[in-house]
Amino acid sequence: MADSLDLTYGDATQSLAVTDGTIRAADLKKIQTPDGPLATYDPGLLNTASVRSAITYIDGDAGILEYRGYPIEQLAEKSTFLEVAYLLMHGELPNKTELENWNYQINRHRLVHENVKQIIQAFRYDAHPMAKLMAAVASMMTFYPSARRVEDPDARMRNVHRLLGKMPTMAAFAFRHGLGRHYIYPNDELGYAENFLAMLFQAQQPKYVADPRLVRALEVLFILHADHEQNCSTNAVRAVASAGNDVYTSCGAGIGALFGPLHGGANEAVLKMLREIGSLDRVPEFIEGVKNGKARLMGFGHRVYKNYDPRATIIKKAVDDVFAVRGMNPLLHIAVELERIALDNEYFTSRRLYTNVDFYSGVIYEALRFPPEMFTVLFAVPRTAGWVAQYEEHMGDTEQKITRPKQIYTGYAKRDYVPVDER
Ligand code: CMC
Repeated sequence: MADSLDLTYGDATQSLAVTDGTIRAADLKKIQTPDGPLATYDPGLLNTASVRSAITYIDGDAGILEYRGYPIEQLAEKSTFLEVAYLLMHGELPNKTELENWNYQINRHRLVHENVKQIIQAFRYDAHPMAKLMAAVASMMTFYPSARRVEDPDARMRNVHRLLGKMPTMAAFAFRHGLGRHYIYPNDELGYAENFLAMLFQAQQPKYVADPRLVRALEVLFILHADHEQNCSTNAVRAVASAGNDVYTSCGAGIGALFGPLHGGANEAVLKMLREIGSLDRVPEFIEGVKNGKARLMGFGHRVYKNYDPRATIIKKAVDDVFAVRGMNPLLHIAVELERIALDNEYFTSRRLYTNVDFYSGVIYEALRFPPEMFTVLFAVPRTAGWVAQYEEHMGDTEQKITRPKQIYTGYAKRDYVPVDER
């Protein structure tokens, strides 16, 4: 296999080293063009590796997702969200003592400064919870200034514990603020996912008891959403970190990126689509509309997966557990029928469009009694585990520099300023 690439431009040929299937973009500078040293133009970074990462592996053609080498199917079946967060951060599964210590460090940081409540409280009652969450996370640097000592690994890790601990609390407060309900403080007797449900849904009862099947379903959803290598929000986290920022400021940027409907918001669109279809007999007509370009089948297709998204398979199993507790949602019948027809239809198979993670997650969230605007928040809470692991990897990567892409300038050539009354 060739480990170099000969590139000829004009009369000159340059040999560029090929490592791990990539050339160094900086090596292209050896080739001179009339416009200056050769560079690549890659809007959306479709074919550019920006990091070397040992955290998450995806083979989109084969439908494979692994965290630190462990298949997502095994983690979803056997692990817990906090254990997966440890794995993402430290690279290995923890032993019993390490896990107990990690869980303790995170859970003991679940309380937030009282002023964080006021930050959330300052929003209008109908403000989107992602905006409240983003503001709350960005504010945390001001409560814990040690986070700015980004060169100090101990300070970084302490603030990672804090952020992982406080995310569910801030998310739950943002949710309850929208409902006008009092805030529920973390309960040390409850695990991470169960405590989150209690902080969200506890009403007047002295103790909130969640059905263990719902707790496990949420835990599985958290595991599935924990990381997905260099997606838009992770790239945002790394770009902001590259300027020397703390973990809160960097993850605040990640929340902003995730908020976009092209990234974190597709499951909400799936629910809207299922409602618009409305009944089983209208499914074939909808599919025809998709084939004629009138609509997209939301929850289908993926930039990376050209096969069944492995997360979708796992979510489908969780659907049964949630509906066994909460009763059947008629929208699920429509979803199942849509999927059955699409997976057997030439339009979808020839384009390699398969079910993705968002196809079933929305119906589960709805069955768990979440309003649609909370869906992206339910993505942000577990994705924080991936963001902090990627942040930490970035901080230890001596090759990284401040992110600063090139541009191709398309504006005016130099021209002289004209005073306002002469224009
Ligand atoms: N329904 C119908 N046709 C589709 C769909 C769809 N969901 N997705 C792609 N196509 C068609 C598209 O029209 C194009 O057809 P043609 O070649 O005839 O023009 C072809 O398939 C390739 O599509 P593309 O837009 O070039 O593919 P992409 O890789 O740029 O887009 C995508 C990926 C996820 C944006 C797209 O598949 C889509 O819009 N899906 C629906 C939204 C969705 O479910 N998003 C959640 C993604 S999973 C969340 C995550 O991992 O973060």
